[in-house]
Amino acid sequence: MRRSIVFAALGLMFVSCGKGNETRLRESFNDCWHFQLGDVAGAEATEFDHSAWRTLDVPHDWSIEGDFSLSNPSSPGTGALPGGIAWYRKSFTPQSRFEGERIYIDFDGVYWNSTVWINGESLGNRPSGYISFRYDLTPHIRWGEENVIAVRVDNSMQPNSRWYTGSGIYRNVWLVSVGALHIDNWGTFVTTPEVSAESATVEIDATVRNSSDEAAESVVWTEIIGPRGGRVASSKRLTVIIEAGETATAKAQVEVSSPELWSPDSPELYRAVTYVESGRNIVDRYETTFGIRSFNFDAERGFFLNGASVRLKGVCMHHDMGALGSAVHTRALERQLEILRAMGCNSIRTSHNPPAPELLDLCDRMGFIVMDETFDVWRKRKSRYDYSVFFGDWYEQDLTDHILRDRNHPSVVMWSIGNEVLEQWDDVRADTMTMQEANTLLNFAGMFSGPQAVDTTLHVNSILTRKMADMVRAIDPTRPVTAGCQEPRPSNLLFQANTLDIIGFNYHEADWLTFPENFPGQKFYISESTSALASRGYYIMPSDTVLVWPSQERGRRFQQPVNHCSAYDNSHVPWGSTHEKSLRMFRDLEYAAGIYVWTGFDYLGEPTPFWWPSRSSYFGIVDLAGFPKDAYYLYQSEWTSDDVLHVFPHWNWNEGDLVDVWAYYNNADEVELLLNGQSLGRRAKSGDQMHVQWQVPWTPGVITAVSYRGGQEVLRREVRTAGQAVSIRLTADREQIESDGHDLSFVTVEVVDADGTPLPTADNLVNFTVKGGRIAGTDNGDPTDPVSLSKPDRHLFSGKALAIVKADTKGKVTLTASVEGVGQTSITLRAK
Ligand code: GAL
Repeated sequence: MRRSIVFAALGLMFVSCGKGNETRLRESFNDCWHFQLGDVAGAEATEFDHSAWRTLDVPHDWSIEGDFSLSNPSSPGTGALPGGIAWYRKSFTPQSRFEGERIYIDFDGVYWNSTVWINGESLGNRPSGYISFRYDLTPHIRWGEENVIAVRVDNSMQPNSRWYTGSGIYRNVWLVSVGALHIDNWGTFVTTPEVSAESATVEIDATVRNSSDEAAESVVWTEIIGPRGGRVASSKRLTVIIEAGETATAKAQVEVSSPELWSPDSPELYRAVTYVESGRNIVDRYETTFGIRSFNFDAERGFFLNGASVRLKGVCMHHDMGALGSAVHTRALERQLEILRAMGCNSIRTSHNPPAPELLDLCDRMGFIVMDETFDVWRKRKSRYDYSVFFGDWYEQDLTDHILRDRNHPSVVMWSIGNEVLEQWDDVRADTMTMQEANTLLNFAGMFSGPQAVDTTLHVNSILTRKMADMVRAIDPTRPVTAGCQEPRPSNLLFQANTLDIIGFNYHEADWLTFPENFPGQKFYISESTSALASRGYYIMPSDTVLVWPSQERGRRFQQPVNHCSAYDNSHVPWGSTHEKSLRMFRDLEYAAGIYVWTGFDYLGEPTPFWWPSRSSYFGIVDLAGFPKDAYYLYQSEWTSDDVLHVFPHWNWNEGDLVDVWAYYNNADEVELLLNGQSLGRRAKSGDQMHVQWQVPWTPGVITAVSYRGGQEVLRREVRTAGQAVSIRLTADREQIESDGHDLSFVTVEVVDADGTPLPTADNLVNFTVKGGRIAGTDNGDPTDPVSLSKPDRHLFSGKALAIVKADTKGKVTLTASVEGVGQTSITLRAK
């Protein structure tokens, strides 16, 4: 039976049983919130009547439910969706027998500027929309009675970002109950200072909080549980004395023999189970998932994991999940990672903010290496109301909490303290500023008062860089500190601080080549690259003319007849490059530890090179709906050892068209192209090329590409001219899902001709209905589609659309797609 702190939460009845041996409870606090869009006077009060408000479960993003509009103050730059102010309230009744325990509420993330009350009393305000935070409810709880948590979210000052943020309690909420002596929030730090095939040293720092009024003594020890279960080591029992209201840290060390090392190919996870004992009772039991691995960055040879060279084949990702907005769905994140893994990607940059905890859990479990980033701005703003407004008051707390939260993840190998911060350049007259002024400006008071010396020869921005890097290393000395920089000269004030452990360049390919000269002995990787532009299935010929958009002369927000970019990898922004170019340069630069391509998936907002009616990006290797663009197969051919052959574009053109046909391939010497069985010749990649191409006068039928190695056929791919649409095809990524209201099935819809060939340019309107489940969103990957992504009607774009389905109850879930003039088709999924 399930034990719960709360037994009645508005209709939800959790059955409670004896306390048993459990010492710590962490339960979801996601269900049955009441929500009201708009500011409401007095809504923090206990007695406030919220019965007329909408009932919903979090994670919830109210922006994604809204309509795209140029009149939304967010602007197309952040997705053209509504922001504003909204309230959430939730009633709960904590069981009296928990009285005497500490009760905490943990928010994984609220966007943004949230204020939380319990029973009308304020618990605090947290501006950052990406940081996880905790409040202690204990002093305010009314045991055995109804309590009310009220949350006001203020996302009204817009724009406050350069990409889509979402609005609301968009990540999970937890209720945690512990005894007076307990492991503190993010209170363990598990490291593996010595790792070999034979044995590993595991160090466990466990910080115990004493929230009672008297000093206490406790005994702390940790057991290590192996990847297949079963205890593999136990630490000594350490006695710690903790003053009232204070914390104390017990440091233990154990040896694990024949450790199963964590790596992308075998992401083996261990658990450290820490016990706190007091008066011969176990009063807390706390689990930390970790991995045993060693890594280092080398100035000449890049990144090494467990002694072996691994190139970080990475992509940058924003946090939205397309049609689901930013409301965290673990399955949506997992699907993104699965798609990226199949492309050969092994590394993620959490651009440009702390990610959802679930993303890092997935990276640990699936074997992705992570560059974990905290800030996009420091004190100099990039958009009118962004985090720079809060930076001075909050950066120390937010940075500290981010590192504390994420430092046990084996996937994380770098901390980035900033992306393209404007502090790279001089903006203050450092020479005319006294240190006192500088201190005030940077909120240094606490940090540099007393005996600590400040290097006054440094620019104030360099001092800030050094301060943050030192803060990070004080919390986690095991990982290097970096920043994504688009000023590649050594005069960059972040570099001048001489504190970054690895230098990351954003763009500026020419400077990748001269790095060893300009930064002798330093470690290097490409923190951001490429920014190529493409709309899936849209092609501009000739394919060997590279379109640099927005063109410098025409200004940033220029309009095309249609707001689409070419998918031939012949389009990029002025500061970027084609996929092939940056990929090739990275391939050939041994000292570059990794590359993070902008971006893995399209995201809402930043519709460069366009503006309205575009409202999502063109940078993705995969579109917003999760459908790969052609460049996906370029990476697959370069980054995986699987046999790859991808031929494009589609074969529905007009009589008289001369069509450029490209193929990406690997594991072969050459590719032959045939049109309706007639050979158009064999081609092999030469020089810098990572593809082969032909120019073909279009005639209907079939183009066939065949790759050969040593004269033997490796792969064969066909692209056919599609005729009239006669039916609808539905394909689910998973036909069985959990009936928990969170799990998802992603269903692709296409219209097909009599032979089953999908129509590649179809734009029919599809209406989705569902029985036994819910439609969580629909999409097609078109950055210009004006229809809200929460609506069940969606045009096909380049022949495809997507419906995302979830279920709240067990049984059959039937999704039906109807297309006027074509018919209707259903697919049955099972919710268990
Ligand atoms: C970079 C920036 C990214 C994104 C990208 C688009 O300069 O770091 O956040 O804006 O440009 O090309």
